[in-house]
Amino acid sequence: MNKPRFHIVTFGCQMNRHDSEHIAGALREAGLEPAGDLDDARVIVYNTCCVREHAEERFYGQLSQLAGLKRVRPEVVIAVTGCVAENDGEQVFRRAPHVDLVVGTEAAAGLARLVESRIAGEGGRLCTRDASPDDLADAPSLRESPVHGWISIMTGCDNFCSYCIVPYVRGREKSRSMDRILAQAEEMAAEGVIDVTLLGQNVNSYGRDLSGELRFAELLQRLDTVGIDRIRFTTSHPKDLSSKTIGAIAASSHVCHHIHLPVQAGSSAVLARMNRHYTKEEYLQLIADVRRAIPDVALSTDVMVGFPGETERDFSDTLDVVHESRFDQVFTFMYSKRIGTPAADMPDQIAQETKQDRFRRLMESVKAGALRANEAYAGRAVDVLVEGPSSKDPSRLTGRTRTNKLVHFTASPALRHTVVPVTITAARTWFLEGRLSPRSDSVPMPRQDAATWEG
Ligand code: SAH
Ligand code: SF4
Ligand code: F3S
Repeated sequence: MNKPRFHIVTFGCQMNRHDSEHIAGALREAGLEPAGDLDDARVIVYNTCCVREHAEERFYGQLSQLAGLKRVRPEVVIAVTGCVAENDGEQVFRRAPHVDLVVGTEAAAGLARLVESRIAGEGGRLCTRDASPDDLADAPSLRESPVHGWISIMTGCDNFCSYCIVPYVRGREKSRSMDRILAQAEEMAAEGVIDVTLLGQNVNSYGRDLSGELRFAELLQRLDTVGIDRIRFTTSHPKDLSSKTIGAIAASSHVCHHIHLPVQAGSSAVLARMNRHYTKEEYLQLIADVRRAIPDVALSTDVMVGFPGETERDFSDTLDVVHESRFDQVFTFMYSKRIGTPAADMPDQIAQETKQDRFRRLMESVKAGALRANEAYAGRAVDVLVEGPSSKDPSRLTGRTRTNKLVHFTASPALRHTVVPVTITAARTWFLEGRLSPRSDSVPMPRQDAATWEG
């Protein structure tokens, strides 16, 4: 008999991508198989995000389109998990009566079992947000890529930035045991994974809730020896990035010299209202310290415009920080009001047109900065982990440097999922162009894709 098939649609951050891989692993363990697409699926899982209104609306828009499919094929099981499931609970049924299961973030480890009983025809519609005794991260995972893996090192968030819904939908900060993380990393290394990303909303506070003194710096030191070539981590909160962690990154051989360090805003007054616990000056000092310790570091950040009460002057502080910090990559957002967060009730919400205008001006500055940062790579030899054919031009390959720069170049598709030396021939705003270099070509440097910062 054919096994029932499942299809997972994932919205949101890397934590959701990680969770989807483990939900897929758990479903496979329960006897299901991945489906090619929605039409082929007996089980459809939406793993959702509500960090901004847009993400949430996009999900509900797509979900409403499944009403017709459910009418024609009532046996299809539709499950909603992730942050919208946690936030909206039963309300999901009100907006989409064709949904069978709503499973909150902390209940997601039980999703596969619930799906199994629905397939067996047991039970009706169900919403659960009760924390599962199991950890979803311990379920087997079905990875999207054989060479890239995610490891959740902690879940939840205790920071309560005043605009952010994440602490309400992901619960309190909880670190996973270091032994468990190391064991997962070792398994991945044995399976040929080359690039691992450690995940947490604030990885810098890893271990604070565990007994003993071991923290993020020690975790990085230990992971450095497990045999994984590229170890990444996200996200770092500037208030908690310690000099010990910076030192551990600098000293390691396999931790990538890339730090995602969301600044959110440049104005110290706005940062205080955001509950970020650092000022503009402290952030700039931190970046200076990081660059001194790790001269070839690539820095990326998140920036938001239109936070309540943001004045033109506040916004110009944001532009200042973006200009001065010479980020390699900036993820830009327009503030989106999230019901239940403190900022939603703050006075002086910013008009949509003002947000759009500031967003546009921010993007101009970001584009100029991204091109400048990429130009520092021209002529350099870098090691590229090949992801596969470029989505825009399938005759070319695309891959990433250790510093997470996207590189396009022409070479045999057989190089997919290997690390190859590439010489950068041109810098574009959002990517680099390169040419495959013979091994002897690559300039021996301590880190071959290191861009230096001059002036
Ligand atoms: N824990 C991570 C990720 C949080 S969500 C961190 O602290 O960086 C990713 C980004 O979404 C945030 O950095 C922030 O820039 C943005 N974001 C969060 N809430 C938002 C909101 N209400 N409106 C607009 N952007 C938001
Ligand atoms: Fe949200 Fe702040 Fe936590 Fe990041 S650190 S998830 S922005 S509350
Ligand atoms: Fe979105 Fe939840 Fe991640 S709200 S950004 S999917 S933690």
